[in-house]
Amino acid sequence: MATTRRELLKLGAGAAASLAIPRAVLGQQAALFSRPIPTTGYEVPIVGVGTARRYNVGTEAADRGPLRGVLDTFSRLGGSVIDTAPSYGTAEQVCGDIIRELGNRDRLFIATKISLRGLSGRDAGIAQMQQSMARFGTEYVDLMQIHNLNDWRTQLALVREWKDEGRLGHIGITTSFDPQYADFEIAMREPGLDTIQVDYAIDNRGVEERILPLAADLGLAVVVNLPFSRGGTFARVGSRALPDWAAQFGIETWAQYFLKWVVSHPAVTVAIPGTARLDYLIDNLGAARGAMPDEAARQRMLSYFESL
Ligand SMILES: NC(=O)c1ccc[n+]([C@@H]2O[C@H](COP(=O)([O-])OP(=O)(O)OC[C@H]3O[C@@H](n4cnc5c(N)ncnc54)[C@H](OP(=O)(O)O)[C@@H]3O)[C@@H](O)[C@H]2O)c1
Repeated sequence: MATTRRELLKLGAGAAASLAIPRAVLGQQAALFSRPIPTTGYEVPIVGVGTARRYNVGTEAADRGPLRGVLDTFSRLGGSVIDTAPSYGTAEQVCGDIIRELGNRDRLFIATKISLRGLSGRDAGIAQMQQSMARFGTEYVDLMQIHNLNDWRTQLALVREWKDEGRLGHIGITTSFDPQYADFEIAMREPGLDTIQVDYAIDNRGVEERILPLAADLGLAVVVNLPFSRGGTFARVGSRALPDWAAQFGIETWAQYFLKWVVSHPAVTVAIPGTARLDYLIDNLGAARGAMPDEAARQRMLSYFESL
């Protein structure tokens, strides 16, 4: 008999110690919903993994073991998008090391960034991309994003060249700051982009008015960062139970409520919640299966959340 999602969630909590979920159990899980990146048609599952902060660890097995368990189970369950950056401390190196150990590079969609803080220029961008590729032990990155628009005109010209040369599969820009939205819209209209990455959550909807509709008009994929507002969404609901009607959408936890709300926006391609625990991974991937809320249901979810 198939293992239910609830049982798998329990296994995930138990497996946090052993770092393993039996293969037979993983094999019984339904496929994750995917969406195409409009410019290339490349399909990505709608829930990925973000690596800021929690993947900034040293080389100790006690720190890396749980992350290894997450990235292994992630790809075994059909997950693929991993978002990282050279500016996340050791996170990019940690991901690169683990992925090489696991040998699952081919099953993953690696999204990293040119993160120039206080630096600019073509040479700085080249040096960072070369460093990222060395960390992943690869000569190809699926998505290279210009982090927070830093030096974006120079870096955009550079990543276009690298994409034309076949070293990058997709190119994009990111932000998580409202004051950057006006410049972000200008950058979005530049030719050659495949993706944007923006902050969007049930309690942070600033991109709804202009950025998401523009992305849809321009045919750009949307990667969502901060889908839990760095944990703020959980703080708002506290220990309250989910409303009964959430079960209609296969929602068993608040994490799935927040993620399904985000990924059911028609312009959104993939959300990348910060995920460094196996139980969180299994929980979050549950939001990429089962019924999805339609617009009326999204409104109901929002109203309910705001009433708390
Ligand atoms: N400008 C940019 O390009 C930019 C900016 C910001 C973020 N990002 C990307 O977006 C990713 C996501 O952002 P984020 O990690 O800062 O914030 P987030 O995804 O909104 O929230 C992460 C928080 O949610 C908690 N969490 C995750 N899954 C959970 C679950 N199933 N149940 C309960 N709690 C759960 C985590 O707990 P723990 O603390 O216990 O792990 C963590 O505190 C980053 O990792 C990064 O890759 C990009």
